[in-house]
Amino acid sequence: MIIDVLTLFPKMIEPVLNHSIIGRAIDKELVTINVHDFRDFSVDKHKSVDDTPYGGGAGMVLRVEPVVNALRALEGHETALKILMTPQGIPYSQSRAKTLSKNDHIIILCGHYEGYDERIRDYFDVEISIGDYVLTGGEIAALSVIDSLVRLIPGVLSNQMSHEDDSFSNDLLEYPQYTKPRVFEGKSVPDVLLSGHHDHIKKWRHEQSLKRTEKRRPDLYKKYQKNQEK
Ligand code: 6GU
Repeated sequence: MIIDVLTLFPKMIEPVLNHSIIGRAIDKELVTINVHDFRDFSVDKHKSVDDTPYGGGAGMVLRVEPVVNALRALEGHETALKILMTPQGIPYSQSRAKTLSKNDHIIILCGHYEGYDERIRDYFDVEISIGDYVLTGGEIAALSVIDSLVRLIPGVLSNQMSHEDDSFSNDLLEYPQYTKPRVFEGKSVPDVLLSGHHDHIKKWRHEQSLKRTEKRRPDLYKKYQKNQEK
């Protein structure tokens, strides 16, 4: 997979991705992540990428030309899936991460300032938000999206099973996990996990997932129940 990121702050993106699982995925060439500063594509001598809004009002608005010029300079931009990061976008989810992870080439635009010139929207396929709160820019949101979809690329996680039990992957939160020691400050690991009885463990984990989801995320639990009825 190739991911091109358009941003005014490449240093907010680049160093973050070079570690741990995503860093290894890059080293193994399972994903290529190119970060581009679209200020390089501004059209005036001041290298401006934003301006005051027509009609007045507070804040600055991202101009259309640097964005579109940067986009068109990217090889394969015609066929890549073009994503605009914005709090006005579709709420991001694990199921969207799964869909996105199947693309060969993704281009992600991180906005900054108060907003985008509305005409920028015409050049993108999908608008994504990572939740109902406002960030100073799309970079941190884009990192969340990139991280969540790269880990789903086959070969990125060492054990391919390890994302099948992820929270949300079946509308349920993940079951509780334990490791050594067996007892810590009087708190014991549940006996069933030490039983060696795989069917019992599987059943217990599923029950725990259900209980936990019902208690913590009644919204998800309802969705799960509805899907079970189908
Ligand atoms: Cl994608 N951008 C910004 N600036 N704020 C956000 C967001 C994106 N998603 C949630 N809040």
